[in-house]
Amino acid sequence: MIELQSISKRFPDGTAALIDISLSIPRGSIYGIIGRSGAGKSTLLRLINGLERPSAGEVVVDEAPLSTLDATGLRRLRQRIGMIFQSFGLLANRNIADNVALPLELAGVPKAERTARCAELLARVGIADKADIYPAHLSGGQRQRVGIARALATRPDILLCDEATSALDPQTTRSVLALLADLNREMNLTIVLITHEMEVVRAICDHVAVLDQARLIEAGRADTVLSGSREQATLALLGEER
Ligand SMILES: Nc1ncnc2c1ncn2[C@@H]1O[C@H](COP(=O)(O)OP(=O)(O)OP(=O)(O)O)[C@@H](O)[C@H]1O
Ligand SMILES: [Mg+2]
Repeated sequence: MIELQSISKRFPDGTAALIDISLSIPRGSIYGIIGRSGAGKSTLLRLINGLERPSAGEVVVDEAPLSTLDATGLRRLRQRIGMIFQSFGLLANRNIADNVALPLELAGVPKAERTARCAELLARVGIADKADIYPAHLSGGQRQRVGIARALATRPDILLCDEATSALDPQTTRSVLALLADLNREMNLTIVLITHEMEVVRAICDHVAVLDQARLIEAGRADTVLSGSREQATLALLGEER
């Protein structure tokens, strides 16, 4: 369970990126955070993995307030959290297997174990045959599968996705979202998924929060918000669906 308690984030230049946000993300859910560019979505995600600290309020992960964690505690928290990005973030000079193995190397996992785990992960995300290839030779969808494999290498129980499908065509988006939904079920993985597309929410989210200009407009079960919202910001996002 991830809880944001009256979170605000103001940057040193005075930008208020988040204003008084309270949100409960249940364990095992696929929780969508939707909003326009600049709404504060990425900032919110960085608060959950402790990369940013709130200016006010508290982030609590499984009863542990992040502000009480020391360096070791924060490191342990980050080991429980995987992250994937729109730009994939793969290293061009490492082949696919070595990209996936990187977090395991950093965690000091022995070579034989790394190799076995990589093979298992690449098979799970459907690109077992790409282990020796370099990122430049993969399609966008395949690159995101590598990103997912790498994010899951250390067996996290939370996966944060920042516009993970925004660079992909609709069909590839659907296949990557289907993979995320399968992983959510199989591993009881809590997925927090940022998007600006209501279609993505509709495809896999069980809950959704709508952010607009640093504020939380509404949050709740996805079917309820999608079918019954009367909020202008939500209706505008619904109106943009392809
Ligand atoms: N380090 C920073 N310093 C100052 N302002 C920042 C910083 N990071 C983000 N911002 C500002 O905070 C606001 C929210 O940014 P954020 O990146 O969270 O938005 P977003 O919803 O993820 O947008 P996008 O959909 O374009 O990725 C924006 O106005 C942005 O310019
Ligand atoms: Mg962003």
